[in-house]
Amino acid sequence: MNPINHVAIIMDGNGRWGLKYKNSRNAGHKAGINTVEKIIKESIRRKIKFLTLYAFSTENWKRPQKEVNYLFNLLETFLKNRIEDLNKQKIKLKVIGFKKFSKKLNKLLRISEKKTLKNKKLQINLALNYGSKIELLYAFKNIIKKNEKINEKNINRYLLTKNIPEPDLLIRTGNTKRLSNFLLWQLAYSEIYFEKKLWPDFTESDYGKILEKFKKTKRNFGNI
Ligand code: FPP
Repeated sequence: MNPINHVAIIMDGNGRWGLKYKNSRNAGHKAGINTVEKIIKESIRRKIKFLTLYAFSTENWKRPQKEVNYLFNLLETFLKNRIEDLNKQKIKLKVIGFKKFSKKLNKLLRISEKKTLKNKKLQINLALNYGSKIELLYAFKNIIKKNEKINEKNINRYLLTKNIPEPDLLIRTGNTKRLSNFLLWQLAYSEIYFEKKLWPDFTESDYGKILEKFKKTKRNFGNI
């Protein structure tokens, strides 16, 4: 049985779900929050230590301003309403990405990270304004600036995921098979599972089934 320590998720399909059921992409994002809550709960129940959620990519800025604003308002409300409880549950929140948001959101993110810094039950890495290519470029540039050797260890030290173990498993919902500039270096040996359901329809039980399947997968890491 494979131990499972870190699950990364591309939460895809909110827009399609919203259009299908409520005639509004944003309604899909709102519904997506419920799935986030369910998956956090199930991750704790299953003693997973790291959960990385792709909430906003460096490419998502290309979306209509109204949708971008809606997403950040949703995140703000989520943090305001939920951070005390997440803290009580001993959840640590960490943002991976470039914190270039409104002053208000930057502050809220900083406070949320600080408040939960010492928690050890589950670490949620929220990928926000995250892009893997730019992350790697910054890592290489910083290594060169510091006159250090370009090797695996140093690259890991300069990534936004410094001190976070590599994901054991990547799940992408929404019936699309691509990585969308997510953790390209860190996923080198992760198992990947593409789920047909749209993110708002994804349940604890769907999640559980994937985790059980993962546990039984033979992982070779290049060996035989
Ligand atoms: C991708 O679906 C989803 C996003 C870009 C945003 C994900 C955000 C949430 C689930 C809510 C905020 C999260 C937190 C943690 C508070 P899409 O819009 O690309 O869907 P589509 O492929 O159907 O268009």
